[in-house]
Amino acid sequence: MESKMNLGLGHNSDAAGSVIAKHSEAAYLRERKVVPGGSMRAASWFQPYPPYAARGEGCWVVDIDGRRMLDCANNFFSLIHGHAFGPVLDAVRDVMVKGTAFGMPTESEILLAEALAARNPRMEQTRFCNSGTEAVLAAIKGARGITGRERIAKFEGCYHGAYDWVEVSLDPAPSNWDDENGNPASVRCNAGTPDSVLRETVILPYDDPQRCADILRREGHSLAAVIVDPHASRAGAVAMSKETAAVVQEACRRDGIMLIADEVISFRLSYEGASRLFGLEPDLITTAKIIGGGLPIGAVSGPADRMSVFDHSAGKPKVSMGGTFSANPLSMAAGLVSLEHYSRPVVDRLNGLGERLRGELRKGFAKAGVAATVTGMGSLFRLHLGAGDVTGYRSAFADPETAKRIRRIQLAMLNENVLLTPNCSGSLSTPMTEAEALSIADKLVNVVTSELGDRQGAVG
Ligand SMILES: Cc1ncc(COP(=O)(O)O)c(C=O)c1O
Repeated sequence: MESKMNLGLGHNSDAAGSVIAKHSEAAYLRERKVVPGGSMRAASWFQPYPPYAARGEGCWVVDIDGRRMLDCANNFFSLIHGHAFGPVLDAVRDVMVKGTAFGMPTESEILLAEALAARNPRMEQTRFCNSGTEAVLAAIKGARGITGRERIAKFEGCYHGAYDWVEVSLDPAPSNWDDENGNPASVRCNAGTPDSVLRETVILPYDDPQRCADILRREGHSLAAVIVDPHASRAGAVAMSKETAAVVQEACRRDGIMLIADEVISFRLSYEGASRLFGLEPDLITTAKIIGGGLPIGAVSGPADRMSVFDHSAGKPKVSMGGTFSANPLSMAAGLVSLEHYSRPVVDRLNGLGERLRGELRKGFAKAGVAATVTGMGSLFRLHLGAGDVTGYRSAFADPETAKRIRRIQLAMLNENVLLTPNCSGSLSTPMTEAEALSIADKLVNVVTSELGDRQGAVG
């Protein structure tokens, strides 16, 4: 039986405009039997089933039903040059035929570490791993090793991967936002997270520098690290204020806390990465995503005196950091060529395109009189519904009805052949031009206007 779903397949719609995506549906039904939930990532799943990717070409992705979508998800912001970028393919092919992984170092890891150091002097030394999660957990273990302290602080609602301590207060609901003293509570994200993890994780407000300063003054002496993403996508994709950044920097210096800048997504914001833009001087910087050119990667970088915590050359290091596929030559080669093609002029052009896209969206929403706004910086953007300013996790929080609308908008954009992430955020990639940016803006304004208008959500 052919299934119909509200997933666009222009050439294959039925008379009523419903969409037939039978190959994706069949794949999903088959996958459900061997994979819980029928898909490897909650983030790329939606009802009734997700489109399955067949191949990518530049800024386009084609699913197994033949539908071509403008890809703003870019594998969750990791594909700065889009899909199947020629120089990456050439570099990987060259390396691959010589072997894919060795129980020996390769020169390729030197080149990528040097490339990071050349972009940002605070990335003087680097250790590679295979994901952002691994990078964050290694940085936190490093900070604990350096300071001899156990607790960490993180900002409410910010995502830093799947390490227990950074999952605390990832997605708290308004009913458990505050503790009995009116400070952000440490809230469990997964069933079974030990209470000790909650006690060891102090939660900071993203957009309240005074409260942040008070909490850090009280807790600072017991903290190994404060982890900061200065443009946190889950906390609204809004830039951290210079005041909050300064409060964090000052507390870290005062109390000997290691400042970890998590630039897994935000590294793309400038040639040097994100921290400099916010006046931060991190002790450790975590990166992943775009520095791997589309292959799995993670990295912890920092000044040599901090990174020495991982130095094994004189025997057992204070903190071990290694892994079977860490610094594998494929990821190293892909990352190097990808960064080489993300030069200053390219960063500037892409950021300009992002500015243009956000500007067009704001103009479009204002003209249509809809209560919607867009946040973001550089080549990143995120849609929010409602008339209020978005300044951090709480003001970005979508109540259940708004969350449903956001998912409907994501689906409607898919029917317009534009792939966004589930919270309607997106990133631009270097193959995109003004034409693509304007097309995304035009479609999103129409879709949002129709969603809010149809459901009496329009203002004005
Ligand atoms: C800021 C941040 N840190 C860490 C991670 C974890 O990275 P990975 O998915 O490569 O484990 C992510 C993933 O999106 C992230 O956005």
